[in-house]
Amino acid sequence: MRGPRQVLAAVLAVILVPVLLAAVEAGGIERVKKAGVLRVGSDITYPPFEFMEAGKPAGFDVELAQEIAKALGVKLEYVNTAWDGIFAALKAGKFDMLLSGITITEERIKSFDLVFSQPYFESGQGVAVRMGDARIKKQADLAGKVVGVQINTTGQAAVEKVKGVKEIKKYEQLPEAYLDLKARRLDAVVADYPVIVSNAKEDGKFTPVRGLQLGEPELLGIPVRKDEADLVGVVNKVIQDLKKSGKYAQMKQKWFGEK
Ligand code: ARG
Repeated sequence: MRGPRQVLAAVLAVILVPVLLAAVEAGGIERVKKAGVLRVGSDITYPPFEFMEAGKPAGFDVELAQEIAKALGVKLEYVNTAWDGIFAALKAGKFDMLLSGITITEERIKSFDLVFSQPYFESGQGVAVRMGDARIKKQADLAGKVVGVQINTTGQAAVEKVKGVKEIKKYEQLPEAYLDLKARRLDAVVADYPVIVSNAKEDGKFTPVRGLQLGEPELLGIPVRKDEADLVGVVNKVIQDLKKSGKYAQMKQKWFGEK
């Protein structure tokens, strides 16, 4: 005898199974496994997320990518690429996913047919100034100033919203902006706060403006192409498992000095 429950279940199965199968068939997991390698695109100039250390990529994102490759049973290729154009490169199939301290934005999802993983880090934009320069203490102090950003980042978007900024200079890479800051061609640099903290410590000639964060908190995620959305399932599981085992807290402590 078939009750209403069984009928519903049967109907659901008829509707859902092909959808699920399509998602699995069209997906990236099979393709990546066959290739035997996970190709991750990244602008490797953004410590402590990704940077070169003794000729090799290192950082929080790199370790996370290693865990994802391990979960897929493939080897990892962490490929350096220009930040400007990184999403177009993913869309064009140059990479399987991106790990590059990337903020999840509606605009990126729409413009590049992306799907993001669950957020893996909470970030936000901070301001850096030359050591000993006390002119900038709050957002309004950026009025009349020349501010450097990495092109097409959420940092650029945040500065564009600040009223009265004299000029926004856009750089291909963040280290170029710091050079201009130190050479007094810029008054301030805006980028992800944890990155500024790390850069400032390393360099010793500029400093983050403590307590000055621009715009909203931002969530970082790992984008894949929409037709390979099944890869997000693997990524999310890796993140959840790392959190459960306590390894995630260790990784944060190691790279950011926080839990
Ligand atoms: N979180 C910022 C954004 O998504 C900046 C990321 C820049 N990443 C990098 N590796 N340079 O726009």
